[in-house]
Amino acid sequence: MSALTQSPAWQALAAHRSALDGVSMRDMFATDPGRFDRYRIAFDGMMLDYAKNRVTDETLSLLVDLAYQQNLEEMRDAMFRGERINITEDRAVLHVALRNRVDRPILVDGQDVMPGVHEVLARMYAFCHKVRDGEWRGFDGQAITDIVNIGIGGSDLGPVMVTQALTPWHHPHLAAHFVSNVDGTHIAEVLKRVDPATTLFIIASKTFTTQETLANALTARDWFLANGGSADDVAKHFVAVSTNATEVAKFGIDTDNMFGFWDWVGGRYSLWSSIGLPIALMVGPEKFGELLAGAHAMDEHFRTAPLAKNMPVIMGLLGVWYGNFFGAAAHAVLPYDQYLARLPAYLQQLDMESNGKSVDRQGNSVDYATGPIIFGEPGTNGQHAFYQLIHQGTHLIPCDFIAPINSQNPTGRHHAMLLSNTLAQTEALMRGKNADEVRAELSKEGKSGAALDALLPHKIFTGNRPTNTILVDQLDPYRLGMLVALYEHKVFVQGIIWNINSFDQWGVELGKQLAKVILPELEGEGAKSHDSSTAGLIGVVNGGKVG
Ligand code: F6P
Repeated sequence: MSALTQSPAWQALAAHRSALDGVSMRDMFATDPGRFDRYRIAFDGMMLDYAKNRVTDETLSLLVDLAYQQNLEEMRDAMFRGERINITEDRAVLHVALRNRVDRPILVDGQDVMPGVHEVLARMYAFCHKVRDGEWRGFDGQAITDIVNIGIGGSDLGPVMVTQALTPWHHPHLAAHFVSNVDGTHIAEVLKRVDPATTLFIIASKTFTTQETLANALTARDWFLANGGSADDVAKHFVAVSTNATEVAKFGIDTDNMFGFWDWVGGRYSLWSSIGLPIALMVGPEKFGELLAGAHAMDEHFRTAPLAKNMPVIMGLLGVWYGNFFGAAAHAVLPYDQYLARLPAYLQQLDMESNGKSVDRQGNSVDYATGPIIFGEPGTNGQHAFYQLIHQGTHLIPCDFIAPINSQNPTGRHHAMLLSNTLAQTEALMRGKNADEVRAELSKEGKSGAALDALLPHKIFTGNRPTNTILVDQLDPYRLGMLVALYEHKVFVQGIIWNINSFDQWGVELGKQLAKVILPELEGEGAKSHDSSTAGLIGVVNGGKVG
């Protein structure tokens, strides 16, 4: 057994879990009217209600004990101090520095990183003003109308998600497009919609070695040169966002047109850096600043609030409770806001790339579950797709419901209908519907005898299914910043509890290596040394048809 699963705090939780067997949330609410008041944290226009969880005061106190036992506070402070907590890459983890609004010096190797952060932000903002004001001109003198961000993973998902979420603040004469997939269809479809004379390409890649991004960037440049742009015009239409000036220069982008960041910014934590350039271009420096300010407010809350009243800590611990003591393998994120349509995809990378690990920080295999499978869709669409399984399936799937109290688009009864669905879902998942209730309902509908008995089990909802509800006054840049930082820190908390390194991603490498071997085999060399399935598939692909 691992040190974690043998530890006193873990063992206490395991014993407590058994004692809670047979206790339902319905009973908990019936006997304790104060749950909503006690199990709620709110500040700055955001509230987390965690009352609909299988927890009591004792559960929460045991979970907080676990956090202390795992040195959560020390590790959190080490991150904020700029220590190299990403041990396998020997790097600091300092996305919090990118939104440090109080100018507290943050030292990496004795050097304050804040002046560099401000310098890049200032360059970004100056560039944004030029593009947004129509001062930055393309090769035939026209202003920029379209921004095409070419990047993948963290160099795509954050900018896509935030840009979409902040649609109400978009510049009226700018459109944003995002190309990530190496599938040529992705870039081809975007290029059909834009004019080379008025398009600005942002090549976004932390390493500037990512195959997909470089392939798309080359295709974009070839298209630009074939459609009126000259080599001298490239500087007006291509900028780079990267930590790797050498590779940017090798690619042919003038490093004067490069916005830098640092190796202490993880790809999936990078939307606050110059990777956020498309966001800043679309919503302007002021709103981008509000996004950073919201994230900073959450950082300060995470840094200073007592663990038992700390939003990311509570969310992280609840995830541990279900994942490790109830066998919950998945976690649903359900935004009731169309603007947050890409939040689940963004959180998939944030959470699954961070905590999809099976060795601990010392390199030992773990004997406990780590990061969950994250999925979700905006409500109410998800309700008509996969909620059936969440309500009546055999898996326990804790859910986060996220909703703004006020809509950006008040339209008739739409928002009340949306929110009534949000709240009804959490109530239904908690309460369920027992046999007596179903029987009464069926009798009322005129059913009886064998017909009623046959239907009865199908209509029972066991309930007792946990949910968090996160409400914001409205979805604006500040609250969005808070929300994203909330999840970043939740993921951090879980990584510390599980004693894993949340900041590397070696698991993505093997596929990349093998793709490099297979590429020439699809381009004439033919299958070399593979298993029979892979070799067979290469043969079929090279044959050009399945059969
Ligand atoms: O998928 C692996 C990964 O390294 C991610 O962590 C990263 O966000 C993505 O690739 C893109 O990397 P880059 O920004 O260096 O192109």
